Amino acid sequence: MGEVGVTGCRLLDLNPIGNDQGWLVSLEAEKSVPFAIKRVYYIYGTVDDVRRGLHAHYNLEQLIVCVSGSCLFLVDDGNNKIELKLDNPRTGLHIKGVVWREMSNFSSDCVLMVLASELYDESDYIRCYEDFISVTSEGLS
Ligand code: TYD
Repeated sequence: MGEVGVTGCRLLDLNPIGNDQGWLVSLEAEKSVPFAIKRVYYIYGTVDDVRRGLHAHYNLEQLIVCVSGSCLFLVDDGNNKIELKLDNPRTGLHIKGVVWREMSNFSSDCVLMVLASELYDESDYIRCYEDFISVTSEGLS
């Protein structure tokens, strides 16, 4: 748990409640989820050779939880990148700041749930990697 070596990204233990009979995870805005949630969406039924994401956001905070199955989740801050395997509903990937993300290797039972701090806004997307690098290097100067 904790920092993953990419600025703005960390893994959070979602502290499931339960025992050998089963588990429950409760996600509360501005408590276990470190922001006010405005939107929830989930990705499922993804064909296994599909690569999704391939974008960053200017202004969006997200908590990403693989509630079923598994996938690979690449995060890149423009200087460092890491590909994480998300395969546990007790772990959340928190992303804050301008971070490029790519998802791949979805298992057929993968359900990737995303809690987001803003409503959907296409103008908040950076879909070109070169533009992403320009934005992140401006931030460093
Ligand atoms: P996109 O964010 O590009 O998906 P991914 O990053 O998983 O590849 O979104 C795919 C499509 O869904 C795109 O047409 C925008 C639409 N969309 C919404 O309408 N609302 C949403 O909250 C999201 C995340 C996407």
